[in-house]
Amino acid sequence: MKILRTIPEIRAAAVVAARTSHRTVGLVPTMGAFHEGHLSLMREARKNNDLVVVSLFVNPTQFAANEDLSTYPRDEARDAALAEAEGVDILFAPEPAEIYPDGFATTVHVAGITEVLDGASRGIHHFDGVATVVTKLFGIVRPDVAYFGQKDAQQMLVVRRVVHDLNLDVRIESCPIVREPDGLAMSSRNVYLDPDARAQATALSRALDAAHARHDAGERDAAAIRAAAIAVLEEAGITPEYLELRDAETLAPVATTERDTLIAVAARVGAARLIDNHTLRGEA
Ligand code: PAF
Repeated sequence: MKILRTIPEIRAAAVVAARTSHRTVGLVPTMGAFHEGHLSLMREARKNNDLVVVSLFVNPTQFAANEDLSTYPRDEARDAALAEAEGVDILFAPEPAEIYPDGFATTVHVAGITEVLDGASRGIHHFDGVATVVTKLFGIVRPDVAYFGQKDAQQMLVVRRVVHDLNLDVRIESCPIVREPDGLAMSSRNVYLDPDARAQATALSRALDAAHARHDAGERDAAAIRAAAIAVLEEAGITPEYLELRDAETLAPVATTERDTLIAVAARVGAARLIDNHTLRGEA
C-alpha cells in the first residue's frame, strides 16, 4: 500500500493510472481512527473495485471552535496497518495546507437538509465543511464509487444531494452501521468514554430499539414512538441534544411513520458526543 500526501501524487497514481487502464476506483473518505465500521467500508470497496483509495484527513472546517479538532484521535501508523491488511492500495493522507492552501475561498453549501438535526446542533459550518471536503476529494481522486457509513445518515443525504445537484460522476454507496455486541454504534469518538459512560452509552441504541419495537408493533404516531425512545434515555440519565423522527429522504418533520422515517439521536455521554439512528420502514 502506498501512502501519498499530495494532490499531484494521488492524481498520477489513482486518476491517470486507473483511467488509462479502464480500472474502477473506489474511495473511502475517512478522518482516521479506524474501527470495524471503517474496515467494513474498505472491504466493500475492495470487493467491488480495481483500485481502492482511502483518504485520511481530519477536516478542520467541519469542526466548530468549541469541538474536538485538537483532541480527535490520530494514529496514522495504526490506521495504515489496518488499511493495508484490508488490501487498500492507496492511503491518501494530506496535510491541511494541501487541501486548504492560502487563498482557498470556496464553500459547498447544501440548503434545507443541513439546517436540522446535526446542522442545528453543531452549527451550519459542519455540513458546509463536510460538503466542501467531500466535493474536493471527489475532484482530486475522481472515484467511480464512494463509500459512506449509514451511521452518519444526515451526512449521507447531504453527500447524495451534492452529487445530484452538481452532476458529479460518482456513485454513492451506503453501508450499514456496525455495532459493538451490546449495540453501541462504532465511532472513533467511543475512545472518549470511560467505563461508566461506556455502559451509559448503550442507552442510545436501546432507545432506538424501543422506538423500532413500537413501530413494529403497529404504532404509527411519531410522538408516541419518540416517547418510547425518550423514556429509555431518561432512565439512563441522558438528555439528548436531539431525538427526532424525520422523513428519511427529505428530513421534514413527520407526524406519522407511514413513510420511511429516520429516527436520529445525538447526546453527550461522558466526554463524548455520540450519534445513532434507525430507519423505520413505512408502507407508503
Ligand atoms: O464521516 C467522516 O469521517 C467525515 O465527515 C468525512 C466524510 C470523511 C468528511 O471529512
